[in-house]
Amino acid sequence: MRLLIVSNRLPIVTVEEQGQLQFRESAGGLVSGISAYLDSLRGSSFRGAAAPAGVPGASAPARSRWIGWPGVTVEDPAKQARVTEALAGFDAHPVFLSDRSMDKFYHGFCNKTIWPLFHYFPSYVVCEESLYAHYRCVNRIFCEAVARLVQPDDVVWIHDYHLMLLPQLLRQQKPEATIGFFLHIPFPSFEIFRLLPQTWRAEILEGLLGADLIGFHTYDYAQHFLRSVLRVLGHEHTMGKILLPNHLVQVDTFPMGVDFQKFQAAARRVPGPQDLSGETFKDFKVVLSVDRLDYTKGILNRLQGYELFLERNPQWQKKVVLVLVVVPSRIGVEQYQEIKRQIDAFVGQINGKFGSVGWTPVLYQYRYLPFEPLVSLYASSHVALVTPLRDGMNLVAKEYLASRTDRTGVLIVSEMTGASKELGEAISINPNNVGEIAAALETALVMPEAEQIRRNEIMQDRLQRYDVIRWAQDFLGRLQEVKTEQKRLRARLLRREARRQLLEQFRQAPHSTIFLDYDGTLISFVDDPKAAQPPENLLLLLRTLSQGANTEVVLISGRDKDTMEGWFADLDLSLVAEHGAWIKVKGQPWRLAKPLDNTWKSALLPILQTYADRLPGAFVEEKEYSIAWHYRRADPELASTRVKELVDDLVNFTANIDVQVQQGDKVVEVRCGGIHKGAAALSFLAKEASDFLLAIGDDWTDEDLFRVLPDSAWSIRVGHRHSCAKFNVRSHTEVLELLREISAAQPQECSR
Ligand code: UDP
Ligand code: G6P
Repeated sequence: MRLLIVSNRLPIVTVEEQGQLQFRESAGGLVSGISAYLDSLRGSSFRGAAAPAGVPGASAPARSRWIGWPGVTVEDPAKQARVTEALAGFDAHPVFLSDRSMDKFYHGFCNKTIWPLFHYFPSYVVCEESLYAHYRCVNRIFCEAVARLVQPDDVVWIHDYHLMLLPQLLRQQKPEATIGFFLHIPFPSFEIFRLLPQTWRAEILEGLLGADLIGFHTYDYAQHFLRSVLRVLGHEHTMGKILLPNHLVQVDTFPMGVDFQKFQAAARRVPGPQDLSGETFKDFKVVLSVDRLDYTKGILNRLQGYELFLERNPQWQKKVVLVLVVVPSRIGVEQYQEIKRQIDAFVGQINGKFGSVGWTPVLYQYRYLPFEPLVSLYASSHVALVTPLRDGMNLVAKEYLASRTDRTGVLIVSEMTGASKELGEAISINPNNVGEIAAALETALVMPEAEQIRRNEIMQDRLQRYDVIRWAQDFLGRLQEVKTEQKRLRARLLRREARRQLLEQFRQAPHSTIFLDYDGTLISFVDDPKAAQPPENLLLLLRTLSQGANTEVVLISGRDKDTMEGWFADLDLSLVAEHGAWIKVKGQPWRLAKPLDNTWKSALLPILQTYADRLPGAFVEEKEYSIAWHYRRADPELASTRVKELVDDLVNFTANIDVQVQQGDKVVEVRCGGIHKGAAALSFLAKEASDFLLAIGDDWTDEDLFRVLPDSAWSIRVGHRHSCAKFNVRSHTEVLELLREISAAQPQECSR
């Protein structure tokens, strides 16, 4: 197995200095995390060992390749070849993009639309069709690059918000590929996500659903995503599993960790407390702040909190320094330039207001720190102040704790970070409240060492157990499990060989019976059931099929008999309406399956109507011996609550009446006891023995039918569902194809 990591940014930035290609480390949590995992695969720490307990199926990839943007625009093909060759030495493969694409895609849609929206800054969001057009286009370029490299056994792991359309694009080109996706930023609540134009938001969700496994840092993000999928695309889930007509997708939570041992080892190596210019911090308590320059990081709030702390606590003046490391980032986006100006000004203001000879309250560094100096700062800081307004995870908080070899130190962490969900023993603050930040600093600076150690021990244990290596193994192991489950489902698909056998048996059979459900089986669902009339070509197909002298076709539906009669009376087939209450053997009049009582309807109708009134979009369909309460057009979330209440009410109310209450596909049905499609089918089978039996249906009412069929029968359920049927097909169009083949296989002399 080879692991292909795909992300917008490669872990190394290519730069050209005086005609020479140079390579530098990239910044950001995504690169830090994945690089640490890949290093562990290459180095001794991973040792290709078996997965730790509780990580089923996780196996180490033999090799890896990272596909992404090299951080530089290279247009000359000869130079592109040189960069490609040089990067191959780092197991990296560049995807070259033009300046214009990078501007519209990276600075544009990624960082002016998705980034602010997903971090709850809707007022910063730019919605421009041309930016989205470039987003689509660059995702396609990435797709071509991956499709060229991917081999059958490879695992493709796509990362982050730049490439949300890629899973689906790649799936279209490589249907069998193993594709994982991980989002490193928050997935916002539906109310925020829905601010995107309708087509974009649907395409983004569909794009993500092309993956086999979609991972998020926190449970909340996963739930937000699942809710958006339900609201926008109408797909429900069970425990994060979404069964699409031809694909199973798992959504799950994997909080990213850090390479705990690497930070511990480095922290033991680095020199003692030092400031950035090598001076010791011995006279001061150090509060550390490290981030990429980003408005989401709450750097201004942090400075305000620190200023308030100094004002409120003059005794701490000249005794504390705030080391503020800000890493340059996305300088092509205006908001980043603006926040930089504001930070510069604010630092000047605090230093001007409180500073004195020998004491600079804020030691400000605007640059990227490589690993060792960063760990040195972590190891020498008494407090880490992490105050993002929103952050998918925040690795800095975890790295600080991982670097505390003597277990002292205090972490102050914003409750708006993903990391805060795992770091409950840290001091938690709401970054919007500067008073809380100031108060947290007061608490942190006087916290007794024993208390610091008590808290950090718990958090370090957790970080050590679920480190970044475990995180990646967990994700990749889960991905393999999903593939296994898909295979199991796929084994039930009616494939070519089974289809051939089915047709052969049909050809040989002196007498055949075919039971066909209607809605969802011969035609797709529509919002209004009345609008699902059979089109001409379907009527023609049914006519041809039923004209076979040895073939009996039975349409077996939950619809009322008048609708069935209106649509199919001209055809030479048998009809079953209301799930078996009414039966019309071909050439004969309608008859009731058995004497039935429908007086219960008058008592139940008002209840069903009340529930319909309380759920906009729901409506009641009254049939002679059953009532259907449809909610396909209703708000899916409110509907799921109302349905539970309704079913509960109905079950209680009908305890002493001979009726059944059942939930179907966006419908609740109440019908007479003992009436179901299985009983109806048996009445046909009792009449005349069949040498070939086929039943096709798409929902729970058809399960009654599948259940009563003899072992020799062919039964097919539409959609990837667990079922009593022997086979699955993906959609009603596959059913129509099969019926066309059956129709063509009818012996000539039997056709009239
Ligand atoms: N980082 C670094 N040098 C710096 C500042 C940060 O290497 O000067 C790394 C840091 O170790 C961490 C990552 O950048 O792994 C930042 O990740 P985080 O999740 O905190 O924030 P992001 O930048 O991804 O939003
Ligand atoms: C965050 C994002 C990453 C991104 C990183 C640095 O961590 O989740 O996808 O790579 O920031 O941002 P940049 O725009 O420099 O790649």
